[in-house]
Amino acid sequence: MARINDNFLKLPGSYLFSEVGKRRRAYIEAHPEAEVISLGIGDVTLPLTPTAVEALKRGADEMSRAETFRGYGPEQGYAFLREAIAAVDYAERGISIDPDEIFISDGSKSDTGNIGDIFAAENKVAVCDPVYPVYVDTNAMAGRAGSYDPATGKWDNLIYVPGTADNDFVPGVPDLRGKNAPDLIYLCFPNNPTGTVATKAQLKAWVDYALENDAVILFDGAYEAYITDPEIPHSIYEIPGADECAIEFRSFSKNAGFTGLRCSFTVIPKKLKVGGVSLNALWNRRHSTKFNGTPYIVQLAAASVYTPEGRAQTQALVDHYLVNAGIIRSGLAEAGYKVWGGVNSPYVWLKTPGNMSSWEFFDYLLNELNIVGTPGSGFGPAGAGYFRLTGFGSRENTIKAVERIKGR
Ligand code: MLT
Repeated sequence: MARINDNFLKLPGSYLFSEVGKRRRAYIEAHPEAEVISLGIGDVTLPLTPTAVEALKRGADEMSRAETFRGYGPEQGYAFLREAIAAVDYAERGISIDPDEIFISDGSKSDTGNIGDIFAAENKVAVCDPVYPVYVDTNAMAGRAGSYDPATGKWDNLIYVPGTADNDFVPGVPDLRGKNAPDLIYLCFPNNPTGTVATKAQLKAWVDYALENDAVILFDGAYEAYITDPEIPHSIYEIPGADECAIEFRSFSKNAGFTGLRCSFTVIPKKLKVGGVSLNALWNRRHSTKFNGTPYIVQLAAASVYTPEGRAQTQALVDHYLVNAGIIRSGLAEAGYKVWGGVNSPYVWLKTPGNMSSWEFFDYLLNELNIVGTPGSGFGPAGAGYFRLTGFGSRENTIKAVERIKGR
């Protein structure tokens, strides 16, 4: 008799952004005249850069001719893209990463979700709270999270490291010993959802902890392009020793607008070993078995991001969203909200007014002001009473949304 993976049955409700989308669609159906502004899911609104579009067209052209047609590519990604990443994202920052330590993929959501395949179910997992829900849900699916308690909003086998107003939503390394000692630690900076960033000293504390305790850090750097402060590290590998304890995930979604195109990469240094086994070799085995490579034309477009024109045009996209985030941050602050993020990040995190719960505030914004955001409690129990807005909307809608909020 077939049996399902009953860990799936332990998952509460639906995935956060599916729920937000469902409520948004229901409202629009019931109020077709409403001009609803979406600042919920972190999806980009500007088109691809001319350089990326040109690369896609060139790729399509190559695929249309027998002499230049390509079938399956290397599962790990084409050398031209892996070399560009190693040269620009790492060597230019003084970090030595070999192209064969880079695995091209179809998105950081997939990569951060799939990475659990190479780790035993017995690993103890720590997540910051609030947290990008993919880390939690995929560990629950793998049986690493234990049972979900709806009363606390927590999984009983996960270690939650709370981000709070007191630590400005940058949780430090807590006392993690004995049964509370994690083997796998998910970190995301600039942070989703709070928009906060970690200093070198703050990341060093995590790296030192991981090295001392044989833990592995899973570092999500999907929002790295938004860092403008020269003191803030762009990569975990700027921290000495991180190449022996950390995996890094990067994405083309939020910098180059590839949310619909799909391209990302995962860096696993060859020095990184668990029990003497190379994680690079394990992931290579997993990736080449379960993945047949990101489309050639998409990898061409990703490589175009590293050309001089591509870099300038990509930076212009990021700058645009950063200005939007700044408009939201300053507008909300003027309206009396307590805010975090919006600087070095496309996300603005705010305290809901009064004693409103995150979902009450969601309903208020949607029903009264026709604005969609994301309830903080959807990112974990420490997000309760908080809310996230994104700078990824159009400039016009961003200004309109802020005016609606300030008008109240
Ligand atoms: C978000 O809104 O948190 C992100 O868009 C989700 C994602 O990148 O998958």
